Amino acid sequence: MAIRNIRQIGDEVLTKKCKEVTQMTERTRELIEDMLETMYEANGVGLAAPQVGILKRIVVIDVTGEDPHVLINPRIVETDGEQTGPEGCLSVPGKSGVVTRPAYVKAIAMDVNMQSYELEGTELLARAICHELEHLDGHLYVERVEGPLQDVTAEDEEDGDTEE
Ligand code: NI
Repeated sequence: MAIRNIRQIGDEVLTKKCKEVTQMTERTRELIEDMLETMYEANGVGLAAPQVGILKRIVVIDVTGEDPHVLINPRIVETDGEQTGPEGCLSVPGKSGVVTRPAYVKAIAMDVNMQSYELEGTELLARAICHELEHLDGHLYVERVEGPLQDVTAEDEEDGDTEE
């Protein structure tokens, strides 16, 4: 496993549409392991493959630090309600902004064995699913932000990371 370089806003790779994964390979397994390690090392709650420069439809999410989810070719099939709150992104370091997302999300994805499963989330998990899936289509949360982007201080970052 290895820590990969996280691409920052302004990098073209973050604006591209990612390709579906058609089969699991050793290389893709390694990518997923590296994405998890890179996300944990950066204290993030989610990471999408284009954030490490790979245009594949793969995201990893862990909002508690003990519950990793790998979503391959994910799509949202159901949403309900609304939540408005701060959001950040590992590709937009030191910033956060207010974004409105569904309060509940149900997604269908494949796991590392290319088996289809459902993932339901509320609160931060629902937010993270929406945020990460948008990365796969070349979009960043800053396009949706309500009001100005805020600077995040070092103390804020220690209080609780919500960077995706
Ligand atoms: Ni992000």
